[in-house]
Amino acid sequence: MSGPVRTAPLRIGPLELVAPVVLAPMAGVTDHAFRSLCRSFAPGLLYVSEMITARALVEDNRKTITMLPRADEPAPRSVQLYGAAPRTMFEAVRRLVDAHGVQHIDLNFGCPVPKVTRKGGGSAVPVRRRLFADIVANAVRAADSHGVPLTVKFRIGIDDTLTTFLEAGRIAEAEGAAAVALHARTAEQRYSGAARWDAIGELKAAVTSIPVLGNGDIWRAADALRMVAATGCDGVVVGRGCLGRPWLFADLVDAFSGRPVGAPRPLSAVVSVAHRHADLLIETVGETNAMRTLRRHLGWYLQGYPVGDQVRQRMRLLASRAELDHLLTSLDPTMYQLAGADALPRGRTDGPQRVTLPDNWLELVDDPTPPEGADLLATGG
Ligand SMILES: Cc1cc2nc3c(=O)[nH]c(=O)nc-3n(C[C@H](O)[C@H](O)[C@H](O)COP(=O)(O)O)c2cc1C
Repeated sequence: MSGPVRTAPLRIGPLELVAPVVLAPMAGVTDHAFRSLCRSFAPGLLYVSEMITARALVEDNRKTITMLPRADEPAPRSVQLYGAAPRTMFEAVRRLVDAHGVQHIDLNFGCPVPKVTRKGGGSAVPVRRRLFADIVANAVRAADSHGVPLTVKFRIGIDDTLTTFLEAGRIAEAEGAAAVALHARTAEQRYSGAARWDAIGELKAAVTSIPVLGNGDIWRAADALRMVAATGCDGVVVGRGCLGRPWLFADLVDAFSGRPVGAPRPLSAVVSVAHRHADLLIETVGETNAMRTLRRHLGWYLQGYPVGDQVRQRMRLLASRAELDHLLTSLDPTMYQLAGADALPRGRTDGPQRVTLPDNWLELVDDPTPPEGADLLATGG
């Protein structure tokens, strides 16, 4: 890949990253073990947690508390938060920075799931600009008390007739966000089609005083350089590209530093990463849960390696560490991934779906009243 290479580190408030790269929050994926595995390949980047809901945190939900970064996780300890009510958001952020030592918070306004948008949560919120501004302002105020930077992640809008990203970016900037990130699809698109990187360029032109991060369809390090060159964005947020390829973060640091990117890996190298992943999961959630979580990851690790249906069948039923070891040692370590398989969509591939908003939502753009019942529903996205 030729073209401009960005070597400047990315600053998000007081945080300085060694390369302009952020791990995208992914529900069910970016848990302690996965963040730790990714970080082992590239320390000094920002690795965001799975999304947690503000309301659950404020209500001391036990599972939610266990999802927070532990005190021994290397800085910056980062959390993604979902909420649709300014006050709850304030209280949740206050707890994260006061009691849980969190050093970066990202707000999720991209969730396109019908049960969420129907109640006015997730990607429906930016349509209500007063409410959106109040939520961001409250979260920033609580985070600021500890000098913690708060970032805001959103999509292009609801659909092609109702785009909100430019206004959302300007509002987030005005309310004190430390950066904004755009998943360059509409909520209607879900995960279909190519991410529209031109929208990232438009956002970069509209938001001038804080970093603008681009997100969508970075499968390889070269894609990140292309996105920066094409849009002028200040950094990239990487989601599905690192599923089954956590070393992508090392490739990204190399690429942004102008160094050659690592060669394709034989299956033996992938298997050793899968073993480490298993160890980390077992350490954090115990063997049974670890194996349940690992089943999906194994599918991603082995994607594009011609291992055969029988192996994939066994993988889906994996129940113990011993079975995992047996399965992985049965594979031909000299295999390479089929050409192009690293760029195959995975994790989420849902096609377009019309977005349902609450009744009269569009008449409430300047009404600050939070929607009822949108607080506890989100599932990421
Ligand atoms: C399994 C999965 C879970 C996700 N969960 C969340 C989430 O909780 N919060 C969020 O803002 N985005 C979530 N996303 C969206 C990603 O953060 C990202 O915006 C999207 O995948 C596009 O980037 P990519 O093309 O690099 O994957 C999720 C994506 C996937 C694949």
